[in-house]
Amino acid sequence: MTEKKRRQGSHRVAVSGDVEVSAYLEIAEGRRDEQPQEEPAKPLGEEREAVAIVDFGSQYSWLIARRVRECSVYCEVVPHDATWESIASLQPKGFILSGGPGSVYDEGAPQAPAYVYKSQVPVLGICYGMQLIAHQLGGRVALGAKREYGLAVLHQNSVSTPLFEGLPPDIPVWMSHGDRIEDMPPGFNSLAYTDNSPIAAMGNDQGIIGLQFHPEVVHTPQGKNILRNFLYEVCGCSGTWTSGSFIAESIERIRNQVGKGKVICALSGGVDSAVVATLINRAVGDQLTCIFVDTGLLRREEAERINNTFQKNMNMNLIHVNASDRFLAKLSGVVDPEEKRHIIGEEFVRVFEEEAAKIGRVDFLAQGTLYPDVVESALTGSRTVATIKTHHNVGGLPSEMNLSLVEPLRFLFKDEVREVGLALGLTEEMVYRQPFPGPGLAIRIIGEVTRERLETVRAADWIVMNEIKNANMYRQLWQSFAVLTPVRSVGVMGDSRTYGYMVAIRAVTSEDAMTADWARLPYELLARISNRIVNEVPEVNRVVYDISSKPPSTIEWE
Ligand code: XMP
Repeated sequence: MTEKKRRQGSHRVAVSGDVEVSAYLEIAEGRRDEQPQEEPAKPLGEEREAVAIVDFGSQYSWLIARRVRECSVYCEVVPHDATWESIASLQPKGFILSGGPGSVYDEGAPQAPAYVYKSQVPVLGICYGMQLIAHQLGGRVALGAKREYGLAVLHQNSVSTPLFEGLPPDIPVWMSHGDRIEDMPPGFNSLAYTDNSPIAAMGNDQGIIGLQFHPEVVHTPQGKNILRNFLYEVCGCSGTWTSGSFIAESIERIRNQVGKGKVICALSGGVDSAVVATLINRAVGDQLTCIFVDTGLLRREEAERINNTFQKNMNMNLIHVNASDRFLAKLSGVVDPEEKRHIIGEEFVRVFEEEAAKIGRVDFLAQGTLYPDVVESALTGSRTVATIKTHHNVGGLPSEMNLSLVEPLRFLFKDEVREVGLALGLTEEMVYRQPFPGPGLAIRIIGEVTRERLETVRAADWIVMNEIKNANMYRQLWQSFAVLTPVRSVGVMGDSRTYGYMVAIRAVTSEDAMTADWARLPYELLARISNRIVNEVPEVNRVVYDISSKPPSTIEWE
């Protein structure tokens, strides 16, 4: 292949015979009666760069999506039984078939829909996805062959392929499979091998490619280059997915959806609702009203920050409800963490509904749903997950209000939301804010929540946050905060004995809050935080540092 052809996005991979995709399909369909019979994909309309990731139950599907987005190519994860009609508007320039936990020989093993092969766009099968390609297009998969798990060295064959463009001939890759390819389908060439997999990568002349290893995981260090090569060199994408293009597209979509309708949005102070509100405000201006419910459980200066940003700087319609008395009254005497969550969640919805009712007719509710939530609910469906904490999402949907949802971030990952936030002109402080739980400081006060205890934990938290920021560690930490415990201990200050409360400092690193490790904060930083808290917060005379990881502990103490 010439360099020019590659840049034009030709998807030729390796020439070996001239078997057409339709011929492969006939083989596949002849063998499997249950092969979906969709109409062939219609020719692609206007040029739009998107790739569909067909999910076969891999824990890595969202990670593939993440990597594709990092290459500035828009993509969506779709279930393996998605109909063509449901994905046609994506106009995919390529398909990626994910891995999966099973074997292609399992009863009811999910198959790639016929449109994947019929649409005549490139296909990249990863692990199970590769085995499916072999199985459906007339090759042979060896069942339960020697399991290969962990790092392997991938050696390229001499066949020319744009997939490995710019890579050294031998690279480390991450393997995790039982079955393996025994015979390739007609027209395919082996592109690479490892010690245990004679066919670790294969491809044909129609841009159908299979990889036995996982290019999406960090253990395959050059994996992103391989995915980029697939997207750019094989599918012909040029990387048009940027914050700017997202904002322009979203504004248009929001305008189409909302028309002349009225939208309400709950502002929590977090980055997601801030970006949603800003985006919708850009699209429909005054048709949006934001409601900020001040529960009285927020950190110091939080309410002011929200008012300043949205009302003063952006001139948005903002209703600021000071509901702290209501929340404190409801929480009086309550010590059980789940009960606190429940009460706060319920009260929030009540306040929100009351305020919304005052606005008059409202048609839409804006929400900051992100892509991982969408993928999880779409792909795991009814999977039961043990409830460890209910995580009532304060700011969540009051379902009885019967409003249509506007969810402009539902296809974004968290770091993309941050990029969009910056591009919309939100401050770094707002955009890189650490997560803060909906029930707020109520679950950082062990035991009953009172006005005095809120003041104490707020003062300690303020010191933690400022010292962490001064030490330039704020962004490296997933969360860092103070917890007020009900433990009282004896201390000495000047010549007198004290009997004060103990505050715990919690600082963790994490990727996604599912697991977390306690942060190895420098001793000097811990010393400064401790000194300041015992000196500046009169009710506290002892500070401890929490050195538990999650699991078995959780990030919050309640
Ligand atoms: P845990 O404590 O379960 O917390 O390790 C994981 C992440 O979730 C946040 N969190 C909550 N967020 N409502 C929320 O909106 C809640 O009730 C809640 N409880 C915990 C926590 O701050 C961490 O980021």
